Amino acid sequence: MTRHAAFTTNAQGQAPRGAALPVARPMEVESGDRAPHSPKAGAHVQIEALSHRYRGMSGNCLDDINVTVPSGQVMALVGRSGCGKSTLLHLISGLMQPAQGGVYIDGNRVNAASPRWVVMFQAPSLFPWMSVAQNAALGLRFARRVSEIPERVPALLEMVGLSAYADRNVQDLSGGQQQRVALARSLATQPELLLLDEPFSALDAFTRRALQQDVRRIAKELGLTVVLVTHDITEAAIMADRALIMAPDPGRIVTDTMLDPGPERHRDSPAFEAERARLAHLFETTA
Ligand SMILES: Nc1ncnc2c1ncn2[C@@H]1O[C@H](COP(=O)(O)OP(=O)(O)OP(=O)(O)O)[C@@H](O)[C@H]1O
Ligand SMILES: [Mg+2]
Repeated sequence: MTRHAAFTTNAQGQAPRGAALPVARPMEVESGDRAPHSPKAGAHVQIEALSHRYRGMSGNCLDDINVTVPSGQVMALVGRSGCGKSTLLHLISGLMQPAQGGVYIDGNRVNAASPRWVVMFQAPSLFPWMSVAQNAALGLRFARRVSEIPERVPALLEMVGLSAYADRNVQDLSGGQQQRVALARSLATQPELLLLDEPFSALDAFTRRALQQDVRRIAKELGLTVVLVTHDITEAAIMADRALIMAPDPGRIVTDTMLDPGPERHRDSPAFEAERARLAHLFETTA
């Protein structure tokens, strides 16, 4: 099965992706031979008048969220605990439906999960009895794209820096390495949108730094759109093109700012420190 056949409709059999898309797509995906480094094909995400209330709760947990994430943008959702970041991420992914309003990906309303967008959580959730390569191949196996495994999995493991570990059991890997396997697995089905819910928060500082840089590099190489949930202002400044700051009760967006931490995004550079400090100040004064 080609990627085109597998992914031009979502789980609800909606119209071909891109049909209602106002943004240009330099490379439409027509076949299953897409190399991990080739295309620029990030999803265009629109969140419209979205409000949500959990059953049994007295007030809205999210209130009138309106956001457009252009194709290829890395956007951070920053906010204090309980302001609704994970809820918003789940609503974007289609794992939950909003009480009001909606999420549109490439112009199509999101009604359910899809292989075109993947969520990564804090825990990598690997199958412990399988090797690194077998875990990385799982998404392709579930999507019945087994023929792509021999070519794509080695390329993905190289991309995440795990080529030497392909045959190792994932139980023998460090937490950071396991999260890299989860990243490879997430990327295997060539999603257009990565939804990251504090995926590095369980890792030590050194490993976290390496993954922050690598995930941004990979997202930019692939042209992916990324929504990153984080508590960590430095992480947002390192990884994101844009930050939305959320406040609680009800969860809402109080600041929407583009980030310009200098061309290198180097933690020790004055440009980075100035941008991090600006974001921290915005957070302290609005969240
Ligand atoms: N299943 C649920 N049922 C009822 N209320 C919920 C449920 N899940 C979350 N909430 C409430 O909704 C609000 C937002 O929760 P959410 O998990 O989205 O916050 P968060 O910003 O991701 O927090 P954290 O940074 O701690 O992960 C919180 O007040 C939480 O208690
Ligand atoms: Mg959360």
